[in-house]
Amino acid sequence: MDIGCEGGHISTSDLLKLFPDIQKVIAIDARLASEFYKNPKIEYHVADITKSSSLFAWKGKITKIISSHCFNCLRSFDKAFENVFDLLVPNGTAAIYFTLNSSYYTYFDEIIKKWIKFSNFEYQGLPAVQKRNLDAQYFEILAQKVGFDVVLCESVVQNLYFDTDLHCEVFLETTCPCGIPFGITDYFKKNLIETFRKYSERNAQNKITFKMTVLKMMLSKPS
Ligand SMILES: C[S@@+](CC[C@H](N)C(=O)[O-])C[C@H]1O[C@@H](n2cnc3c(N)ncnc32)[C@H](O)[C@@H]1O
Repeated sequence: MDIGCEGGHISTSDLLKLFPDIQKVIAIDARLASEFYKNPKIEYHVADITKSSSLFAWKGKITKIISSHCFNCLRSFDKAFENVFDLLVPNGTAAIYFTLNSSYYTYFDEIIKKWIKFSNFEYQGLPAVQKRNLDAQYFEILAQKVGFDVVLCESVVQNLYFDTDLHCEVFLETTCPCGIPFGITDYFKKNLIETFRKYSERNAQNKITFKMTVLKMMLSKPS
């Protein structure tokens, strides 16, 4: 099962490339994207990992679970970990990967609050995991409380960089959900890059870099 599959183009399709002998993938998302990566081995369903009623069909039937860049969207985590546990067969395993915090989120929070009046974007605020400053130890204790054997739980700081300043500017413009207000395009674009520069640095090669801390978890359900 892939939790938070979006349109299946990233994590779900990677699963099939990495494990070509896989029999079937149940790909779930709270809000499925309109365009799917198609493969006869993939079954897409709308389901919310925090709501056990939406997961009932697969309770105790899943051998392996992955979830990539989804748990950072959640507001609370206890129910989600309980549900992952309940979905698995005994000896089943889960690999969960998501961002704990990022200077991009801090930049985005400042930008969106300033420009949201020009869009219909529904902003939920900083991810709960970043707002509450949750770390690897918090998630390790939570997974153990639910009943998992924790095989791996570690956070890794990544320094991501852009090849050129132009790549960075294009990235900021394409990831900003606010339409550019007519007549102030230059001011808007300048504000994106100037705000981002407050939360980023330049590395030794003079490339703009920003930090992201990701959590890697490997969990096993006892027999
Ligand atoms: C950034 S996408 C991740 C796509 C892909 N897994 C990847 O690795 O890039 C996060 C997805 O998680 C989904 N999501 C958020 N909350 C969820 C929840 N409570 N249950 C299931 N999916 C959820 C979102 O709808 C979104 O499609």
